Amino acid sequence: MTLGTLPDARLESADQTLIMLKNPHSTDAEAFRVLRTNLLFASVDHKLSSLLITSPTPSEGKSFISSNLAVAFAQTGKRVILVDADLRKPTLHRVFGLVNNVGVTSALVSDTSVNAITGALQTTAIPELQVMTSGPLPPNPSELLSSQRMQDLLRQLQAHCDLVVIDSPPVVVVSDTAVLASHADGVLLAFSHDKLRRDIARNTIGALRQVNARILGAVLNRVEGNQHGYYYSYHKSYGNRYYSTHYSAQKQNKSKLTGAQSPSSSAPPWLSIHPA
Ligand SMILES: Nc1ncnc2c1ncn2[C@@H]1O[C@H](COP(=O)(O)OP(=O)(O)OP(=O)(O)O)[C@@H](O)[C@H]1O
Ligand SMILES: [Mg+2]
Repeated sequence: MTLGTLPDARLESADQTLIMLKNPHSTDAEAFRVLRTNLLFASVDHKLSSLLITSPTPSEGKSFISSNLAVAFAQTGKRVILVDADLRKPTLHRVFGLVNNVGVTSALVSDTSVNAITGALQTTAIPELQVMTSGPLPPNPSELLSSQRMQDLLRQLQAHCDLVVIDSPPVVVVSDTAVLASHADGVLLAFSHDKLRRDIARNTIGALRQVNARILGAVLNRVEGNQHGYYYSYHKSYGNRYYSTHYSAQKQNKSKLTGAQSPSSSAPPWLSIHPA
């Protein structure tokens, strides 16, 4: 199931990464709000206390998506903790302008007291959002990711907020990601549109299913202009939520008659993940 498509945001610089804050009225930010809503629909029968974002291969947009999605959920008033579980190539401290001398790794080796956990959390410009950066890079990231202590840490974090959003390494490169994914309530699979390959997607979904990870669906990232469908280009020209919502509904009705493309039409039919 495709839960969303995200356009290529054509960021002018790295400090534009948080488009939910920098450009909240843009079509790019609207795409994240659509994804947020669809994630809630996809997990309607299960409480979603922790959501892990992963992808088959590197650089498909996991950190970009998890950061903006965490902000999008926090903007609805949910208390969110965003966790950087990429212990090899962490980036969230840079995205949010935070220090990285404390974080996941320091919390894992500290005692399990509440103070030790909260001491590894950092506040952000959004009152409802806290970030646990990776912490100092460890020599044994695989061991840490798949440890019992990591599971316990996630559980402790869930007790501190409404939603834990976890940014993780790519599944094909870091096999322990699947184990970590199996401890989250839901998994969102990010696919970069230009890298989408059926065999790799299938292997990734298989690896996650093997450990009983609950895949909620996929998001197609970096979808270019007209491949992104009329829905977002319509938003672009009007930029007003009321008009775009109202008229996109009309257009959808019209599309039934004309065979015009639906919002997720850029997803190939074989990418139909049936939620576990
Ligand atoms: N939809 C998008 N529009 C514009 N820029 C994007 C988009 N998605 C990702 N990027 C940019 O592409 C780069 C790679 O994205 P990101 O770091 O999120 O990938 P990743 O999957 O986390 O990579 P890694 O596997 O190395 O952790 C970043 O500079 C990010 O800002
Ligand atoms: Mg990343």
